[in-house]
Amino acid sequence: MFAIESIKIEHQSAPILTDCRHPRFSFSLRSDRSATVLRSACIQMNNGWEKEITDPLLIVYDGPALKPFETYEVTVSAQSIAGEVTEATTIFHTGRLSLPWQAKWISDPNSRVESPNSPVPLMFRRRFTVTHPADMRVLATAMGIFDLYLDGKRLHEDYFNPGFTNYEADLQYIVCERPDLQPGEHEFMAVVAGGWAVGRTTHVDNTTKSKSRLSADRPALLTELWLRTEDGTETVIGTDETFEVSMEGPWRLADFYDGETYDARIQPEQMNWKPAAIEALHVHPELTARYGLPVTAHERLKPVAWQEAPSGELIVDFGQNIAGAVDFTVRGHEGQTITIRHAEALERGELYVQNLRSAKQTLTYICKEGRQSCSPRFTYMGFRYIGISGVRREDIESIEAVAVYSDFRTIGSFSCSNDDLNQLQRNLTWSGKDNFVDIPTDCPQRDERQGWTGDITLFSPTACFNYDMSVFLEKWLRDVKTEQNAIGSIPFVVPSRKGITPVMTTSCWSDCCVLVPWTLYQASGDRTILDRMYPVMKKYMADVKRWAALSLPIYGSPHILKLPFQFGDWCAPVGSVPDWLAHGAWVGTAYYAHTSDVMAKIAQVLQKPQDEKRFRNQRDRIKTAFRKVFTDGHGRMKEEFQSAYVLALAFGLEENEANRRIMAERLWALIQENGGHLCTGFPATPYLLFALADHGYVKKAYELLQTDTDPSWLYQVRLGATTMWEQWGAVQEDGTIKEASLNHYAYGAVGDFFYRRICGLDIVEPGYRRFRVKPLVGGNLTWAECRHESPFGTIRVRWDMLDDQFKLQLTVPFGTVCEIELPDGTMYQAESGEHHYECAI
Ligand code: BGC
Repeated sequence: MFAIESIKIEHQSAPILTDCRHPRFSFSLRSDRSATVLRSACIQMNNGWEKEITDPLLIVYDGPALKPFETYEVTVSAQSIAGEVTEATTIFHTGRLSLPWQAKWISDPNSRVESPNSPVPLMFRRRFTVTHPADMRVLATAMGIFDLYLDGKRLHEDYFNPGFTNYEADLQYIVCERPDLQPGEHEFMAVVAGGWAVGRTTHVDNTTKSKSRLSADRPALLTELWLRTEDGTETVIGTDETFEVSMEGPWRLADFYDGETYDARIQPEQMNWKPAAIEALHVHPELTARYGLPVTAHERLKPVAWQEAPSGELIVDFGQNIAGAVDFTVRGHEGQTITIRHAEALERGELYVQNLRSAKQTLTYICKEGRQSCSPRFTYMGFRYIGISGVRREDIESIEAVAVYSDFRTIGSFSCSNDDLNQLQRNLTWSGKDNFVDIPTDCPQRDERQGWTGDITLFSPTACFNYDMSVFLEKWLRDVKTEQNAIGSIPFVVPSRKGITPVMTTSCWSDCCVLVPWTLYQASGDRTILDRMYPVMKKYMADVKRWAALSLPIYGSPHILKLPFQFGDWCAPVGSVPDWLAHGAWVGTAYYAHTSDVMAKIAQVLQKPQDEKRFRNQRDRIKTAFRKVFTDGHGRMKEEFQSAYVLALAFGLEENEANRRIMAERLWALIQENGGHLCTGFPATPYLLFALADHGYVKKAYELLQTDTDPSWLYQVRLGATTMWEQWGAVQEDGTIKEASLNHYAYGAVGDFFYRRICGLDIVEPGYRRFRVKPLVGGNLTWAECRHESPFGTIRVRWDMLDDQFKLQLTVPFGTVCEIELPDGTMYQAESGEHHYECAI
């Protein structure tokens, strides 16, 4: 059977709504004949546009201008070289495109927020009468985050709209449909809480206090209700003074860090309402239909244990550290106050909250009489445990923890014969989910939760194996682009938090503008992201070059990158911040060479031969400088530490084979001197196992991976971690906890090694059009397997070791080619279909 497996529009499956004027289409095929390929295909739209194609990956719509609020039908018909034919159809909807808004921004001028507090959520309402059955469409956005209701029922399930963007430049709006509204009186209601635009925000730096109102003075709403009757009559009710507003709603507090206070006794009829006022915003973003992913509820976890803390608090363990919120049903009495605190760990039987810093992560619920349910909507917490007070256990009918994160698809899995490694894979995929809440964050629990650029730079290769990251990261990269300053620097966190986090060129972190698009391009095969980001990359690289040139008087070379500031060996398990920063020049220069190398590759893809040559030469000059300044010329670092060797080896900074051998030898010697332990921080850890395994130390790489004493990946697993920790020894053997996050994905970047080395699945041509499978047997593993849904279809790799016999089972998707190398060195090439190979080992 020959069939179209999926058609994607802007990297998403239907239903989608977009304001994109030139949407990108792609499709994947499947056939039960092996080794077939696509002969030709035709893509057509019901507006007359059609295109003949031979490549299913990236087809850009270039037909007549799309119309607002249309539904377009897209049909793909394809023919294989074997002559089989197939056809499939999908649809997409357009948003308002450039249709001007009739609505005006509204708010309540009395909502005065004292920074750093978050505002009391505002409630807006508008009553209207429908005389004939009508279909309703609601378009909405806000300064703050909002929920919309019609006649008391929420119109959508997703959270935290309109999402987190650079509000000076971009603001997303959402569209909800409500068909068949019956004649009579209806009530539209919106709740707008502070969210990212108005609510409290801060980050780790102790000298920097929290701030609120970064993008607006108070919550504000912009909404249009479009009513269309059967005869085609359209009425638009836009936000203006005919809407009413109230500050007296049941949400008394809503704050990302501190939680929610909800008073269930408050009913809309008892609240004071007054006409809303027109609000003049001081940002003027472009309004676009949501181009990121909605944030939605996912796993629902039941308690795995209940216990009473010495303090008397009722503790519930959900067995998994998550980002999300509780959902409970209780029997309560009017005025009874239930308090639920959230934490990632317990210490001596009590909730451990020190690592939350100033974040309170507390839900306060004031009951009405009787049976009632509650689940926060305007906050999320990072937690595995909760502490409940104010209600007896027997009055809690049910309680669950709901994981809340962006709605990306899981497209990969890895497992092997070692259960601890499987747990590590679970931990790192959970940390991925927990930190992909509309933007890629560093952590979901403490008073931070920012879009730290370095963390996602390091984790994106692992993320792209496990999840479909295209939509999520393209949205974030749009902000990276807008946030670049005039001289080319990128903020530490994106979206930036004005006046809180600096905008500064810093390797690894700011390199996100080059490395993340490159990773995404490799995984998706869609070069659009490279085209979009190339001007940013070039400008950024020019800035890096200027800073490097300032090193001339210090190092005698204009290619050493130390200025203006480097995080260096951030979070290495020795010393503290000053020691990590002190290794800035090594890390900075190594990344400078690596990023120049990637720039040369990008320039090649974009067919810019001059740039390609320039970046290649630049890379070579940086490599030479690195060796001259930091090594003795024979492979040994003048100052030895693991990260220096790891980066030199992984980024190919040493040309001479004999010197490389010495580097690998010295790296292993340093590991041994450290009791068989790694000693690397954020920037080098993702490359550590590659540096060993790719330079003759496969056995040692496995040994290091399977070590379970501190510091190591499996130490966390042995101590019961369910997510990745920010710092290697965050929890001590005796259970004492350092003040560190227990849910940071940076060290989860080891997941890349699982796919690319243990299973040996590596990309040769972007989008897996051509890929390699070269499993790395070792560490007493008897089997390993992975699955990855590539843009062409699902790849499966499974290897087994049976009595010195190695067996490989492989699924190669339609339209791709796989190069296979077995552990005995034999090589094969396979086209689509199922394949089996064996060799003695
Ligand atoms: C964050 C990080 C980040 C780092 C940079 C921390 O506070 O949690 O993960 O990359 O700061 O300094």
